[in-house]
Amino acid sequence: MDEYIFYPKLNFDLDRIKAIVIKHMNLKISGYATHQRRVCDEEYLIELQKQYPFLSNLYNIYTTPPNYLTPIHICPSRGCAINIPIIYTEDSHTIFYKIKDDAEIKYIENRIYEVIKKEDATETFRYTLDRPTLMNTKLPHSVVGGPLRPRTIMSWSINLDSDYEITKKLLGG
Ligand SMILES: [Fe+2]
Repeated sequence: MDEYIFYPKLNFDLDRIKAIVIKHMNLKISGYATHQRRVCDEEYLIELQKQYPFLSNLYNIYTTPPNYLTPIHICPSRGCAINIPIIYTEDSHTIFYKIKDDAEIKYIENRIYEVIKKEDATETFRYTLDRPTLMNTKLPHSVVGGPLRPRTIMSWSINLDSDYEITKKLLGG
């Protein structure tokens, strides 16, 4: 599991983060992707960024409908991310895959990720997001939501110069 996810000890006030994400969920910023929000708009997030300087200036809010299955994808524009459960993550799974050497990879501009066909992938690991988790977003993965309600998470990207292994070490792993 070490190559996929790591549970860091973080000095995060999860109630405060949850309130911030809920406040910004529907506040799209013009000039940014639909899921992107700015750290500089919230004092508490600026404070956290000072404590953890590898956290990027943007974070993502991902909301998906019940039972939603994201395509299998890789995030090319970030090294890794700290994912934080916000609403109804307990019935969801994040699934990692090994892909064929000759898999076709397609870039989807509005979601800023690269998509891989299901036929080219085999599941290797899955977990349920139940606490802040450092995730290796460079490995192919998909997410399936639970049946009851939409699922919302915060995904705080790590600056590109800190890849997953570097960040894991910085966080005590
Ligand atoms: Fe992802």
